[in-house]
Amino acid sequence: MTFISQIDTLFGSVIVGQAQPTLDGTFALQVLLRVLHIFGAVILVGGIFYQRSILFPTGVDACFVGRRQVWAKWVGIATLFLLASGLYNFITIIRTAKADGVPLPPTYHALFGVKFLLALLVMFLAAILAGKTEAAERFRQKMGMWLNVAWSASLTILVIAAILRNYH
Ligand code: HEM
Repeated sequence: MTFISQIDTLFGSVIVGQAQPTLDGTFALQVLLRVLHIFGAVILVGGIFYQRSILFPTGVDACFVGRRQVWAKWVGIATLFLLASGLYNFITIIRTAKADGVPLPPTYHALFGVKFLLALLVMFLAAILAGKTEAAERFRQKMGMWLNVAWSASLTILVIAAILRNYH
């Protein structure tokens, strides 16, 4: 009896004949990277939502409450997590599908491409809006508009991510 099926039995839902994950290093790495991906998305999209809907209506300065550099650091960390875990996930998903003899269709790649480009846009906007350069200052002059763009792109990314899951 595997660890997972013991948990199933414990909760009264014995799964018969269904695929169970093998609890090895690869599984642990996949779980870790998935957690990092969601963690990065929560920080970036959550921060953008909070700035756009709660703080910005009272003024640009309110978006940072004097701690712009701290937010800039977290934008960098979230971006790193998203890029590293996202690329690993993408390569793993493509390889696994090929190895299983069911390569993913062109629509999967097209949707992923759109998600990736929108993600680059969101990460760029979050970074430049939190930046210290003259260019950052110019972007902050239209803070409300850019936050709306970043928020709309984030929502689209979430919808695409939800669709992609169903391809494999
Ligand atoms: C603002 C940036 C991003 C957000 C908010 C975001 C959000 C998400 C979410 C919520 C999921 C679903 C997670 C799950 O079901 O476990 C996901 C899946 C995924 N993301 Fe991202 N992501 C972002 C950037 C990226 C980037 C930059 C890459 C690639 C380098 C990437 C690659 C992937 C892949 C491959 C999946 C799995 C898709 C599938 O199930 O087929 N993501 N993303």
